[in-house]
Amino acid sequence: MKVLSLKTEHFRNLSSDLFVPGEGVNVLYGENAQGKTNLLEALWLFTGGKSFRGVKDSELISYGEQEASLILHFYSEEREQTAEIKIFKKKRQAFLNEILLRSPGLLVGKIGAVIFSPEHISLVREGPNLRRNFLDAAICQIRPGYVRILNRYSRTLNQRNALLKDSFRHPELLDTISIWDERLSTDGEIIIKERESYVESMKDPLSEIYEGLSSGKEFLKVQYKRSAENLLEALLKNRKQDLQVGYTTCGPHRDDLEIFLDGKNVRMFASQGQKRSVVLSLKLAEAALLKQYSGEKPIILLDDVLSELDHTRQEYLLNHLSDCQVIITCCDPGQAKNLKNGFLFQVENGILERKKAECTSI
Ligand SMILES: Nc1ncnc2c1ncn2[C@@H]1O[C@H](COP(=O)(O)OP(=O)(O)OP(=O)(O)O)[C@@H](O)[C@H]1O
Ligand SMILES: [Mg+2]
Repeated sequence: MKVLSLKTEHFRNLSSDLFVPGEGVNVLYGENAQGKTNLLEALWLFTGGKSFRGVKDSELISYGEQEASLILHFYSEEREQTAEIKIFKKKRQAFLNEILLRSPGLLVGKIGAVIFSPEHISLVREGPNLRRNFLDAAICQIRPGYVRILNRYSRTLNQRNALLKDSFRHPELLDTISIWDERLSTDGEIIIKERESYVESMKDPLSEIYEGLSSGKEFLKVQYKRSAENLLEALLKNRKQDLQVGYTTCGPHRDDLEIFLDGKNVRMFASQGQKRSVVLSLKLAEAALLKQYSGEKPIILLDDVLSELDHTRQEYLLNHLSDCQVIITCCDPGQAKNLKNGFLFQVENGILERKKAECTSI
């Protein structure tokens, strides 16, 4: 998978020029508020998801304009292809090779990418729901049917929780709770199995990447933590407690992905730079698995990743990922001085300018 070019029109502050990245590593540098993250965001939209910044579509359109358009030429499945996204204030349209898709979500799986942005550090800093979301989003990219099961589980969970709350006023409702338990545990077990198997296949690439990033100084380990061994039995066992608190206290919605660095819980013990390295490794392991499952190397988008990383970690990132196409943003071109092979672009006021001089081996 390779981006050949991206043309943006009326997207945030970006000018309507053509961005033509090279193979391997591309570094985009520029002062604050010039449009670096906007460009990554534009590329990310082609994975079929929402903006990774969690904003409304209307905010993506340049101020004062009515619609934005993004045209991506890319190489995948051994041929050149085109995808186009049109963003209107209230809807979005996606085209693949000039055919309008029934829904923009159908782009999922066509253009593989992973993104790291500084906010993703909350993945290790905060509670388990972000880690569950990380696993679910990663699995959705490789297992198209998974999202349907997730949605069905969450509907059943809401219904069971509503029943738990209403049972005080309508005790007769409790006659039906076993039906909800059955449904919840059937889908719940599928979700848990998928997540466990994803975490299992993640272990090798993850420790390999973290070893490279930390020059073998630290050892990273992940473990999927279930809230219940046997979900159906646990639902039955916890029913009294669930009725008291008014929600379902076990199931995949209460599980966690535990992360340890040299045996210690990252959330509590890791330094700022270590946390950043851990999240980065999780994202890069996600990329490795995406490649394993789809046969295509995903694009790696790294927003402002170099700050807070020491020299050796920066060096690893800049020079050991070139197997994939990588787009890295930073403020100071000095941070990219360790780049041995790659392309440099300056971003100023929404305009990208390709710089040649700094990288000798281009
Ligand atoms: N819909 C929009 N229309 C026009 N400009 C916008 C729109 N949305 C955001 N911008 C502008 O885009 C600018 C650049 O944003 P971006 O987040 O890409 O900066 P950046 O280069 O990544 O900066 P930093 O180094 O601070 O992360 C911001 O100043 C913002 O005002
Ligand atoms: Mg930015």
